Amino acid sequence: MTHVGIISVGSYLPSKVLSNFDLEKMVDTTDEWITSRTGIKERRVAAKDEKTSDLATKAALNALKHGKLEASKIDLIIVATISPDSNFPSVACIVQKNIGATKAAAFDISAACSGFLYAMTTAKQFIPTGLYKNALVIAAEKITSLVDWNDRSTCVLFGDGAGACVLAPTKSDGIISEYMHAEGEFGHLMAVYVDYPDTFDPDNKSMGIPRIAMQGKELFKVAVNSMAAAVEHALKKAKLDLEEVDCVVPHQANDRIISAVAKKLGIPKDKFYINIDRYGNMSAASLAVALCEAVEAKKIKKGSNVVLVAFGAGLVSAANVVKW
Ligand code: ACO
Repeated sequence: MTHVGIISVGSYLPSKVLSNFDLEKMVDTTDEWITSRTGIKERRVAAKDEKTSDLATKAALNALKHGKLEASKIDLIIVATISPDSNFPSVACIVQKNIGATKAAAFDISAACSGFLYAMTTAKQFIPTGLYKNALVIAAEKITSLVDWNDRSTCVLFGDGAGACVLAPTKSDGIISEYMHAEGEFGHLMAVYVDYPDTFDPDNKSMGIPRIAMQGKELFKVAVNSMAAAVEHALKKAKLDLEEVDCVVPHQANDRIISAVAKKLGIPKDKFYINIDRYGNMSAASLAVALCEAVEAKKIKKGSNVVLVAFGAGLVSAANVVKW
């Protein structure tokens, strides 16, 4: 059996920092409310002329550099994003051009905050079949472009960023289990509403600006249950017990969600890698950036049993167990 592992990671964060104190000047909120309800202190915001594909390209180059890999050797690029530059071309195709990965196939995946794991699991399937030798998996979001900056209940939550990893055959272990799940009946709890023209509209009169709308309280409960269930499914498939987990890298939507998931599973919270205080919720990119930082901070070492877990709008949830 061919084993597939994560052989390198990388990330990129835009330089502009938007703190809770900055937000106090924009909407009726306080640093105290945001910190106590979410754990977020600040987030990054991409520059006006910085697109999702720019963030994705920089994270991809970072992952290639860390792995001492050449872009020309990459066979497949999958980008997870819900904030692409435009409907087409895909962000993956733009990255392919930007980095010079001339032989790679390239496409995007839309699975909101679970996108990085949906993309990783999808990419993984091509390697044991022999179709591809490696894959570059990227999660990139310029989600601040979808935020309604007049809505204090959502604008304080999100930030921009990108993370990436390279998958390739390993001698043993690597990604030892994967789980993907969807519950479409909860789709109304979080959505981006956009007035696409519902008919032929040459004057573009019915075009509107897309904006995030969310039912936070309801989402909170579903998030905790679906993340805990995803971890249990993935661990069972990996034939590992909860006590054998060394590090959990979760999607970073709310520090209280992470605490509730840790409690529900009975895994000590100090095994969870958390960076929400610095970046907020970067949708698919949150987990990819957190994974990169956890590796760099040596929270994940050779032999570590790592659980990656996410949930997002859809609703979609996912988990992977990786023996590092
Ligand atoms: N500043 C100050 N007050 C605020 C703010 C704010 N930024 N936002 C809301 N409030 C007020 C509300 O108006 C409400 O006031 P009221 O009691 O007078 O009506 C009060 O604070 C409580 O609001 P709730 O919405 O009940 O606050 P809650 O404790 O549920 O926290 C939060 C809100 C942080 C959004 C939480 O519900 C949450 O994190 N939910 C999950 C969100 C999530 O997971 N999103 C991402 C999922 S999918 C994806 O990531 C793509």
